[in-house]
Amino acid sequence: MIQSIRGTKDILPLEIKNWQYIENAFKVISERFGYEEIRTPIFEKTEVFSRGIGEDTDVVNKEMYTFADRSGDSMTLRPENTAAIVRSLLQNKLLNQNPLARLWYFGPFFRYERPQKGRQRQFHQYGAECIGTNNPESDAEMILLAQHLINYLGISDFKILLNTLGDSESRANYKNALVGYFSDYSKDLSEDSQKRLLTNPLRILDSKNKNDIDISENAPKILDHLNEQSREHFEQVKQFLDETHVYYEINPNLVRGLDYYSHTVFEFQSSMLGAQDSFGGGGRYNHLFEQLGGKQTPAIGFAMGVERILLILEQQNLLALDIEKPDAYVVTANKELISTSLKIASELRMIGRIVLMDLFQKSMKAQLREANKSNARNVIIIGEDELRSGNVTIKLMETGEQSEVPLSDISKYFSKS
Ligand code: HAM
Repeated sequence: MIQSIRGTKDILPLEIKNWQYIENAFKVISERFGYEEIRTPIFEKTEVFSRGIGEDTDVVNKEMYTFADRSGDSMTLRPENTAAIVRSLLQNKLLNQNPLARLWYFGPFFRYERPQKGRQRQFHQYGAECIGTNNPESDAEMILLAQHLINYLGISDFKILLNTLGDSESRANYKNALVGYFSDYSKDLSEDSQKRLLTNPLRILDSKNKNDIDISENAPKILDHLNEQSREHFEQVKQFLDETHVYYEINPNLVRGLDYYSHTVFEFQSSMLGAQDSFGGGGRYNHLFEQLGGKQTPAIGFAMGVERILLILEQQNLLALDIEKPDAYVVTANKELISTSLKIASELRMIGRIVLMDLFQKSMKAQLREANKSNARNVIIIGEDELRSGNVTIKLMETGEQSEVPLSDISKYFSKS
């Protein structure tokens, strides 16, 4: 038997209600904040991501699904959406019409990672991007949007971690300080971190290696290396969050895994997730537009992992969503009456009712059993005798009460209930 690809999952009919519920929450909350949906292709030219996310990142280095298409052009299944959205805004010149874009998206993403709980090779993200302003109130708006979503979904076990990476000047200062500090320990660092000492020392702070974590504990902190402008920006973001009662923790080791960030970065964690405890993250990316051939445009955004949100909601028992009961199940006495059954079902569906009927030409008794199993509120019985007098029998399942209803009045009967 052919199996699905490792790290991918079918979302089966039994689970789909949960997905639709979450997707609706994304739409409702995004719209409350004036964000508009954008849908970009699932695959892009590889350079969108290699230039956008950065050649030194794990995502670009180890995790992209990259392939040559039949003309030999290099394509990549999108591992994230921020770079693709910037590509789209530039190509469609959307910022020429309005200097501010507030956008949201939902869809599948692809990373070649080792699958485990909360980590897949095809996963789904909800994301939001606010493009066109560097003002700290947009940082606050972004985090408030996430907070509203978290509240709306009812997630109670979570933490918001906040940090700043400062502007390029602050980061250059900080990198020097880090290289100075970590060089003294270079032999004790993991192999990956030894490499990062040369390419991107900030990422050492993100290492999951126990030794690296211990060494990082006393490393210089970015907050001590910010220039005046970067410090001021961060102070204002914190002040807005304080004043709007957003509870966050400053984590000076939060650096994020993608290279496009500057200034504010943040992550959402939940202890209900185990090792993959981050269900979302984001930050400011004021230089991504230049990276992709546009002019400098400030922007900020975040994305959340939908599978991880589902894991949290499941553990909080917030997912026992009711499956909508059918309004009616049409039962026929014999197969000569099937077309009458099809017609009645159609008529009721036209007025918005959920209607089922048998498709196996089962006996009447078996059809009644199916009707019962389907939890239909009503059973419409089309019997030969009744039909001769122009009636059907409608049984209200909750009470067992039966009424004879003229064929021409069925819609009327169902429009009042
Ligand atoms: P990210 O931190 O790489 O950020 O991913 C965001 C979220 O996607 C993670 O916190 C996690 O919940 C989920 N996620 C990532 N990889 C996997 C996986 N393999 N399996 C399941 N879930 C996963 C970004 O992607 C940025 N584009 C966010 C952003 C938007 N920054 C600015 N704007």
